[in-house]
Amino acid sequence: MGMNNADEDAGEVCSELVFYVNGKKVIEPNPNPEWTLLWYLRKKLRLTGTKLGCAEGGCGACTVMVSKYNRKEKKIIHLAVNACLAPVCAMHGLAVTTVEGIGTTKTRLHPVQERIAKAHGSQCGFCTPGIVMSMYSLIRSIPKISYADMEVAFQGNLCRCTGYRAIIEGYKTFIEDWESQRITNGISNGKLNGDSNGIGCAMGKDCCKLKDNKSNDQSETEYIFDKSSFLPYDPSQEPIFPPELKLSSVYDDQFLIYRGNKTVWYRPTDLNSMLKLKNQHPDAKIVVGNTEVGVEVKFKHCVYPVIIMPNCVPEMNAIIENETGLEVGAAVTLMEMENTFRKYINNLPRYKTRTLSTIIEMLNWFAGKQIRNVAAVGGNIMTGSPISDLNPILMSLRVKLNLLSKAGGHRSVLMDETFFTGYRRNVVKQDEILLSIEIPYSKRYQYIKAYKQAKRREDDISIVTASVNVEFENNSNVIKNITLAFGGMAPVTKIATKSSQSLVGMKWDEQMLEKAYANMIEELPLIPSAPGGNIQFRRALTMSLFLKAYLAIAKQMSKDYIHDDLIKPYHSSGAEQFHGSMPKSSQYFELVGDKQVKSDAVGRPITHVSAFKQVTGEAIYCDDMPSVEGELYLAFVLSTKAHAKILSVDPQKALEQPGVVAFFSAKDVTPEQNLIGPIFHDEELFATEKVVSQGQTIGVIVAQDQATAQAAARSVKVEYEELQPIIVTIEDAIKHNSFYKQFPKTIKRGNVKPAFDDPNNVIIEGQCRMGGQEHFYLETHAAFAIPKKEDDELEIFCSSQHPSEIAKLTSHILHVPMNRIVARVKRMGGGFGGKESRGMLVGLPVALAAHKLQKPVRCMLDRDEDMMMTGTRHPFLIKYKVAATKEGKMLAAVVNIYNNGGYSIDLSGPVVERAMFHFENAYYIPNVEVTGHVCKTNLPSNTAFRGFGGPQGMFGAENMLRDVAFKLGKDPIELSKLNLYEENSTTHYGQVLTHCTLQRCWDECVEKSNLAQRKVDIENFNKQHRWRKRGIAIIPTKFGIAFTEKLLNQAGALVIIYVDGSVLLSHGGTEMGQGLHTKMIQVASRTLGVDISKIHISETSTDKVPNTSATAASAGSDLNGMAVLEACQTIMKRLQPFKDKNPNGKWEDWVSAAYVARVSLSATGFHATPDIGYDFKNNTGKPFNYFTFGVACTEVEIDCLSGDHLVIRTDIVMDLGESINPAIDIGQIEGAFIQGYGLFTMEELIYSPTGTLYSRGPGAYKIPGFGDIPQEFNVSLLKGAPNPRAVYSSKAVGEPPLFLASSAYFAIKEAICAARKDAGVSLEFPFEAPATSARIRMACEDHITKKLSAPEPGSFVPWNVVP
Ligand SMILES: Cc1cc2nc3c(=O)[nH]c(=O)nc-3n(C[C@H](O)[C@H](O)[C@H](O)COP(=O)(O)OP(=O)(O)OC[C@H]3O[C@@H](n4cnc5c(N)ncnc54)[C@H](O)[C@@H]3O)c2cc1C
Ligand code: FES
Ligand code: FES
Repeated sequence: MGMNNADEDAGEVCSELVFYVNGKKVIEPNPNPEWTLLWYLRKKLRLTGTKLGCAEGGCGACTVMVSKYNRKEKKIIHLAVNACLAPVCAMHGLAVTTVEGIGTTKTRLHPVQERIAKAHGSQCGFCTPGIVMSMYSLIRSIPKISYADMEVAFQGNLCRCTGYRAIIEGYKTFIEDWESQRITNGISNGKLNGDSNGIGCAMGKDCCKLKDNKSNDQSETEYIFDKSSFLPYDPSQEPIFPPELKLSSVYDDQFLIYRGNKTVWYRPTDLNSMLKLKNQHPDAKIVVGNTEVGVEVKFKHCVYPVIIMPNCVPEMNAIIENETGLEVGAAVTLMEMENTFRKYINNLPRYKTRTLSTIIEMLNWFAGKQIRNVAAVGGNIMTGSPISDLNPILMSLRVKLNLLSKAGGHRSVLMDETFFTGYRRNVVKQDEILLSIEIPYSKRYQYIKAYKQAKRREDDISIVTASVNVEFENNSNVIKNITLAFGGMAPVTKIATKSSQSLVGMKWDEQMLEKAYANMIEELPLIPSAPGGNIQFRRALTMSLFLKAYLAIAKQMSKDYIHDDLIKPYHSSGAEQFHGSMPKSSQYFELVGDKQVKSDAVGRPITHVSAFKQVTGEAIYCDDMPSVEGELYLAFVLSTKAHAKILSVDPQKALEQPGVVAFFSAKDVTPEQNLIGPIFHDEELFATEKVVSQGQTIGVIVAQDQATAQAAARSVKVEYEELQPIIVTIEDAIKHNSFYKQFPKTIKRGNVKPAFDDPNNVIIEGQCRMGGQEHFYLETHAAFAIPKKEDDELEIFCSSQHPSEIAKLTSHILHVPMNRIVARVKRMGGGFGGKESRGMLVGLPVALAAHKLQKPVRCMLDRDEDMMMTGTRHPFLIKYKVAATKEGKMLAAVVNIYNNGGYSIDLSGPVVERAMFHFENAYYIPNVEVTGHVCKTNLPSNTAFRGFGGPQGMFGAENMLRDVAFKLGKDPIELSKLNLYEENSTTHYGQVLTHCTLQRCWDECVEKSNLAQRKVDIENFNKQHRWRKRGIAIIPTKFGIAFTEKLLNQAGALVIIYVDGSVLLSHGGTEMGQGLHTKMIQVASRTLGVDISKIHISETSTDKVPNTSATAASAGSDLNGMAVLEACQTIMKRLQPFKDKNPNGKWEDWVSAAYVARVSLSATGFHATPDIGYDFKNNTGKPFNYFTFGVACTEVEIDCLSGDHLVIRTDIVMDLGESINPAIDIGQIEGAFIQGYGLFTMEELIYSPTGTLYSRGPGAYKIPGFGDIPQEFNVSLLKGAPNPRAVYSSKAVGEPPLFLASSAYFAIKEAICAARKDAGVSLEFPFEAPATSARIRMACEDHITKKLSAPEPGSFVPWNVVP
């Protein structure tokens, strides 16, 4: 490559990587520039606590702390960093701390580990190490943290299980007041605040909970964890920074060269060498944070032969003040820039630093903290993404960029309309580097305001970003200069030059606004099929965000020098953006009485049994298993066409690559073996003649490691002949009559005709539509198969909710009896239904390869593969016609339900059936005709997802009810109450509701949420605000518990007591974070009468408990709990004689005596739910064992201009019978609610019209983050409602609360209605779920949206379609 010239005159050249991990020195003689820090930690150092969730910096599961010594300021800096993007080569001379380095269960947990565990903030635990490390980095960086610091620290972390509240509550204890009072009070007595339980709040009488005065009832409590048991945080106990790194600068001064197979990595230490290198290698990538380049390498498979890291070039890393402002080195990170700007803002007159403040405000919405800690400002400019957040601001300021090259020397360019020359291209020459950016101070009459609108407020790329830089004539509101710049409106960041110029000389008033709008519409067009979609929304946003800036600047001018209100208070809130505040919460549940013996854990809010291992990184997930000698890695060759004939598959090139072992395809199995599926075998393990969806498996490559396997898989050549039609949406399927033949099915009750014929009744007709939802479990699908080399035995470790099915299908594809195959599941990093049936897509090829090669084979899907292959929640379309009385009582409904099943039927049948069972939600409708259809489309096969069609069905009910209310001019709340089921009501499938607590939940929720008063307050608020509106909605739910397929309602357990008295419990359920194992241990503790510390569950394994059902349908605890109970009872019966003989003895004595007496100490238990089973043909029988009821009330506020919203408060009352574990149950309620909140407001699958999934990672697919949870979140378990039909009077909880999140959607709809009322437009409007910012903004029709003419449907091919 001829790359040595620059090295020659560099001082000391080093090719060894030296850094510290958890205090230990690591020397890597031959680092490969392609290795990420995460890979190195997990694979080379075997530190598997740090997790891989996405590999694109979007989930935070890989967060570690990187520490360095700042020699100039003589201080140690600690940064939370995404190890998945950080190149290990960038770690030279730094200290890395992982979750294993701060505490262990073997010695002592660190307080950040202990508090999240004890506060119940770790469910599946896959996100937990990352969250722990974000918190740890925060407390190591800031001595006294505030809630605002915490908010920022977690912007880059996602959790799919908990709903975040528990994590926040646990970590709020680190906030100064609590911690300092605690240290002052001492913790030795374990009692704070005089609370007799030792459970209290250090805020004493100022405790917010006491102020709220919520309950005087001593039998219930809202304290779900015991803060008084927390270890105090003592910073002096932290490990020290490696002295070597502090004392000597040797590692900082080294010129580094690391040579890999494909890439050479340089780290020069002075500008001259930097320029020389760039001169020698004009194509070289200059990598600072690697947050762009890392993603390009991983997902676009770019190979960059030369990388130069400028982090040790002083001129590129400094911020210098000059006469006009600040000169920021291009390699300065966003975090350093923010910190330095803050110092200037604090010291300079306010007007001078408006530019800096605008940049800082924007940085709050720029990525997450982990990214900002490493990403450079120069990287953002040079990448030139059209949706960059900084570029619009920098362009509106026309900042000066200093460029440098060896050949051409220095030159400056302005970041104006000529800077970007095309998509991600600019005027910087190939051999030039960006040295620095000059950011000017603002002038006295100059204002800069920027807004970004994204799908999610925090850590999301923008849809549109607008920046307005305006300077006024002295002491006036006449525009002297103005520049409007926009991101997201063209292939480049765009200055609206004409619009800007046309405003010069005008006053800052409404006339100016109108002129700006008129010009912007012309100057910022978007063709209807423009990439990114959301065309009308983006166009509306340009004007809306300008209006926001107009309002904000006018307000500021009024304050600064106009001294007159330029803006009416009614309009004033349009200037603001939502900022969350410290969330409040309460959790009410019933305390177990004093009479309950201590060892009996049932009813106690005990911590998840794996929590302490999860917070320390000791919990082992499938891919954390140590490697086994000779193990191979499997990679997929996936279909890239949605509907095509396969002409040829040629693996030759792949097989020639070194390290590649085999290619398997349909040729390696018989046609019968190749057909698989959970119920019907209607899909192919490997596609044969045709592909019917993108992401379908065509073949697999097996190689010695992941990188080799994946690269080889990409080189397998597949030739296709495209076929038509490509059916993507439900509407396409209806048009092409593409349905699964097992459907339609209808449930009929009564006679709908009379109600529709009666002229006294009101009739409404309508439809509603709900999008799908990606499961986004933090751990993707994974499997590891180990052949036993004897008798065809095979062991499969898998991340599956249904190990029995994996074993059964493995037996089918291998033609090996099931008694030779053992499927084992230790735990999953989340499942939510996504790992119920689709686990076979990974498990089976891995098993096949292991069997054929007789070698261990492993695979964990990359996030994009997982999203492309494994299907989602079903999108639904529901068409309905309802007759109701004039009072609003529903009398008859004819309903057609369609779900989008994808390319195979999978579980789509039972999913649509559950929607049919739940289409009436909690309302009695005497006459019903409900029909379900499953659409066959060219999408990945859609599958189970928490709720399993129930939420979609219930969404239909709430829409029907609201349509009736609208027609009658009544409040939907009144109609909900009127139609609510009562005790002994009968459902449309003939099931009588007994122990029906719906009315109680409703009344309690109405009261606890103070609904009546808040409705009045909302009305007042709405009268006073034009651009902000509030809405409130209360939603009931009734969820049927059982598998609707009768045979699945069975479970088994195995209890083994060892002679030392320890108990090994096995049951058929899998642990995916929902706390099933914890509950089963609690059940066993009561039945056996032993403390939970004696009971252990190791895993779920098909050789311990056979023929199990999937852990699904919320029935895990019910079914397995009864089986555990039975097994334990059997043991207790056998021990009874020994207890009788020795009544004062201990458990160990009785066990020992039984052993000596040759009594069996192991027993199985089995449970089959009695009295259950439904016959579709005759509409008879009982599909459900019982129902879980609940009610939620949610208030939201929307920003009518941007479409953003904030959940102000949610109150939930749920009947969970007598909860086995209130902490786990409340965690399930909160987690399900937030997951449902994502479903109903935020999460959108984006497909092209030809079936390509665009939303393939956390960057494009947004699940709720920390900042999205209700500002106040109160959960209460209904008291005094024992359930006679489940173990220890409990109730199932996993799925039922999810639908309650639709209260946010319907509250948003109410708020939109208020906006539409103000605008004088009809209150009837289409509003599909989810209620995204785009839908909210466009539903808030106003003078801006009216200016946009919609393109004629059918006259263009849209960029995306809604499946
Ligand atoms: C999860 C995630 C979230 C993100 N969120 C946002 C967001 O909200 N808003 C947003 O705008 N961006 C966002 N980004 C994009 C990215 O973080 C920024 O563009 C960042 O500033 C890039 O900096 P870097 O140092 O990591 O760039 P690198 O990846 O190190 O480099 C990026 C490019 O810039 C070039 N380059 C860097 N420095 C120089 C130089 N001095 N001279 C010449 N060329 C140079 C490199 O050659 C390379 O092509 C996000 C990225 C991720 C992964
Ligand atoms: S794995 Fe690194 S952020 Fe997701
Ligand atoms: S506990 Fe956070 S993702 Fe499961």
